[in-house]
Amino acid sequence: MRAVVFDQFGGPEVLHLGEVPEPDAGPGQIRVRVEAVGLNGFDGKVRSGAMEAQFPTRLPAVPGLEVAGVVDQVGADVAGVATGDRVTGWTSRGAAELAILKRWARVPDALDATQAAALPVVGEAARRALRILALLPGETLLVHGASGGVGGLATQLAVAAGVRVIGTASPANQERVASYGAAPTTYGEGLVDRVRALTPVVDAVLDAAGSGVLPDSIELRGGTDRVLTLTDPAAHGLGVEFNERSEPSAAELAELVGMVVRGEVSVPVAKVLPLAEAARGQALVDAGHSSGKVVLVP
Ligand SMILES: NC(=O)c1ccc[n+]([C@@H]2O[C@H](COP(=O)([O-])OP(=O)(O)OC[C@H]3O[C@@H](n4cnc5c(N)ncnc54)[C@H](OP(=O)(O)O)[C@@H]3O)[C@@H](O)[C@H]2O)c1
Repeated sequence: MRAVVFDQFGGPEVLHLGEVPEPDAGPGQIRVRVEAVGLNGFDGKVRSGAMEAQFPTRLPAVPGLEVAGVVDQVGADVAGVATGDRVTGWTSRGAAELAILKRWARVPDALDATQAAALPVVGEAARRALRILALLPGETLLVHGASGGVGGLATQLAVAAGVRVIGTASPANQERVASYGAAPTTYGEGLVDRVRALTPVVDAVLDAAGSGVLPDSIELRGGTDRVLTLTDPAAHGLGVEFNERSEPSAAELAELVGMVVRGEVSVPVAKVLPLAEAARGQALVDAGHSSGKVVLVP
């Protein structure tokens, strides 16, 4: 089958189309004919070689952590799903014509595959971050990267739970952050003063941007407690929690699919590209300003 492949570590240009063997669904797994693949920052970090110490990758490798598609094989010990069902879920080697899923949720006809493929990774990360920060209604959360996939969804879920959110984004994305119900502000020089002008107290901070925002965050929070980054390794030297322990839940994904269909939250898709343009798509994601998910379609 056709897949996006990289046979050396490097920039997005090492991604190319190739032929790889078709996978089969093992016990507890399903195989889907992929209709859409969500691209993520993690794909870029693995491909660059930056993750080799924590997450060694055998080459040639196929990227892709999340897909939506149609079930075409059901493994042993799997109940409640049949060939022909539309699903979205977590995978590895998803940027291909066929992918294996261990956890998934049904996708109703009302949801396009490109939208559905955008949900698993940001949904899991946003929920996990909010669980860790354990905000109470009325508390104030500062979200770095509130215009992005993870930060944007965390913002919407926190606002829905009665939390006051201040969200950072580029000037072009201030309106999007406001539309999520947060008080928007820009990142960069002067951030501490801008946030202090919006709130006297920051109860918690979520860094979903990863661009050196932790020292300002500690100052605004008044310490490292309830400052969480999903992305900045500087955390280790600063005493800040850096969480990467993914906890995929099929039930939570199904709930998120429902919320998106009902229009309660949104995860914007910025670009849909053919599999052959994986390098262009991943370059957009790696640059950190894609203004929405980038999705590939085989
Ligand atoms: N630890 C985990 O388990 C986990 C899970 C999922 C994702 N992640 C990581 O979390 C990060 C965000 O993922 P994502 O999918 O949400 O990415 P994304 O959609 O590309 O969002 C990136 C966000 O960062 C903002 N940003 C860019 N440069 C910035 C700067 N200099 N200062 C402050 N904010 C800046 C962007 O704002 P503008 O576009 O408005 O400039 C955007 O809101 C990635 O690094 C990803 O790898 C980690």
